[in-house]
Amino acid sequence: MNDPQTMRELVDRLNELAYRYYVLDEPSVSDKEYDALYDKLVALENESGQVYDDSPTKRVGGEPLKEFLPHTHIHRLYSLDKCNSFDALRAWFGKIETALGYAPECTLEYKLDGLTICLTYRDGKLVTGATRGNGEIGENVTEQVKTIKSVPLGIEYSGEVEVQGEGIMRISALEKYNATAAVPLKNPRNAVAGAIRNLDVRETAKRNLDVIFYNVNHISDDADMSQTEQIDFIKRNRFKTGMLFVSSDIEKIIEKIRSVDRASLDFAIDGMVIKVNDGKARAVLGYTDKFPKWAIAFKFEAEETTTVLKNVVWQVGRTGKLTPLAVLEPVELCGATVKRATLNNYGDIVRKAVTVGSRVFVRRSNDVIPEILGVAEKGENAREIEKPTVCPCCGHALTEEGANLFCPNFYDCRAQAVARIEHFCAKECMDIDGVSIKTAEQLYDKLNVRAAYMLYDLTADDLKNIDGFKDKKTANFISAVQKSKTVDLPHFINALCIDNVGRVTARALAEHFGSIDALSRAQIDELVAIQDVGEIVAQSIAEYFERHADVIERFKRLGIDPVYEKRSGGKLSGLKFVLTGSLTRFTRDEARAAIEKEGGIVQSGVSKLTDIVIAGESAGSKLEKARALGKKIIDETQFVDLLNA
Ligand code: IVH
Repeated sequence: MNDPQTMRELVDRLNELAYRYYVLDEPSVSDKEYDALYDKLVALENESGQVYDDSPTKRVGGEPLKEFLPHTHIHRLYSLDKCNSFDALRAWFGKIETALGYAPECTLEYKLDGLTICLTYRDGKLVTGATRGNGEIGENVTEQVKTIKSVPLGIEYSGEVEVQGEGIMRISALEKYNATAAVPLKNPRNAVAGAIRNLDVRETAKRNLDVIFYNVNHISDDADMSQTEQIDFIKRNRFKTGMLFVSSDIEKIIEKIRSVDRASLDFAIDGMVIKVNDGKARAVLGYTDKFPKWAIAFKFEAEETTTVLKNVVWQVGRTGKLTPLAVLEPVELCGATVKRATLNNYGDIVRKAVTVGSRVFVRRSNDVIPEILGVAEKGENAREIEKPTVCPCCGHALTEEGANLFCPNFYDCRAQAVARIEHFCAKECMDIDGVSIKTAEQLYDKLNVRAAYMLYDLTADDLKNIDGFKDKKTANFISAVQKSKTVDLPHFINALCIDNVGRVTARALAEHFGSIDALSRAQIDELVAIQDVGEIVAQSIAEYFERHADVIERFKRLGIDPVYEKRSGGKLSGLKFVLTGSLTRFTRDEARAAIEKEGGIVQSGVSKLTDIVIAGESAGSKLEKARALGKKIIDETQFVDLLNA
């Protein structure tokens, strides 16, 4: 398309680009090109004094509003009936089947955990945006809604229509916001509610919200639209929407619900919504005074709850970093009793203003340890969490770096040394089997193992003192220790316990520098040039080698000085892969190793640079993204073929 000339052309072009970017997730120009067109529009608007109603310049938010005005919904908004078990869902479906005389087709959607938003359009223009309120009267949040880039300011349909959706803050947007926020947002739901019910519209604009639509509440020229027709209408008019599945077999729907992987989504859901599809069947089933009888929410187990913070204890990790561990009034969460949660670091306690004796939000997602998100209600006798000045393990004075406290007593702090020995032996490091934290403690206490290199001097006689080390285990241990001398460079770097350097960074460093010598000489600017290595990580690396040249020297004397051989010329040389979903013939590590052996590179997420995505069973958002970006997607069998080619 030629460069747009008139203001009308510019507005249309910018809206088209925003639609591709924010709704379809398929950017078609660079940010720079978009910005240039946008600036041109601003100049023309200033010059002419005229601004189109659907101009993207209307999205920035003006002066703060004084109050929220009430908005009366065209039709009252209903809530959803809910159930917590598959049997209850079957019972609901059975009742409906009886009432209709047949098993109706039902749709399955995510139950998004955000804030209801209702938008009214007339003559193709957005006239109001409103919250749900009590279902009849909500708050007018039109200005706030206009800042949401995926919400169209103008649509193709020219009658009167009200569409309903859920305002959400994506988890990635929330994490990005929290990384620099003075006060972190507690969860996506609070984040979106606080942003939309905010009189300062510029603040709303900063949160990068999204709305996903699921309902046509009212439309001037059609009464009984089915759910699939509603979603089609919503899609055609360029809103963001989604539907997973349609079936009249409740067991198939249950199967689909079971396959949902909450953790792979970039937004919070608290369940799934099942709706009878057909409009006429809905009219037969009708409503109670609160909800439609033709829909139900299947609620997942909560991942978040509140409980009382009883105490905070400090744990010393392998890098000397102190982590505050929250001791909680036991509470049920995701089918388990939670008694402890992490508070990350001292800075986190200050930011979240957490106090002992207060009721706090606790969140548990997948298998990560539960985390405290913030205070729900301050306790009457709440007390501040004291900042420790000495190490709880060895009593050494602490140092402070950014948000973290450290014990600098590298060799003589037992907690640190023990954690380092355990880490050194782990599979993703030197792969010396059989060294649990309990064993590491005994190695420290009984055999004076203060540092990992001392493992190489241990004899079978020494090991007699360690619990469980009978002949076979001892022999295996000694041979694993010897074998570990031939470790590759990525595993060795990971084993060193450099602060802020995990498995992925260790690999990147190995690939870039090729040897410990080269890495230890690296300057900060050379380090930050590596993908994913920022200032802080670079500093940690430089500091490590400054402080621990002696450790490196000792490993060298033991013959441990691996070099990284670039496998150029392999079958997959230079190709970038992403693994997603579960594979049946490989573990993730095996698949990674197979790719790297052939010179390929494994990335953690799909990006423009990705070449091939390997999608296993129930692949989620990465697969979606790969499709959106038009990436080559192969299954496990094709992957095996590729390796064998
Ligand atoms: S349909 C007449 N579909 O859940 C039915 N609601 O608990 C109207 N929600 O107020 C609602 N995802 O804010 C519907 N896919 C979805 C939904 C959804 C989230 C919210 C919505 C509603 C609440 C009811």
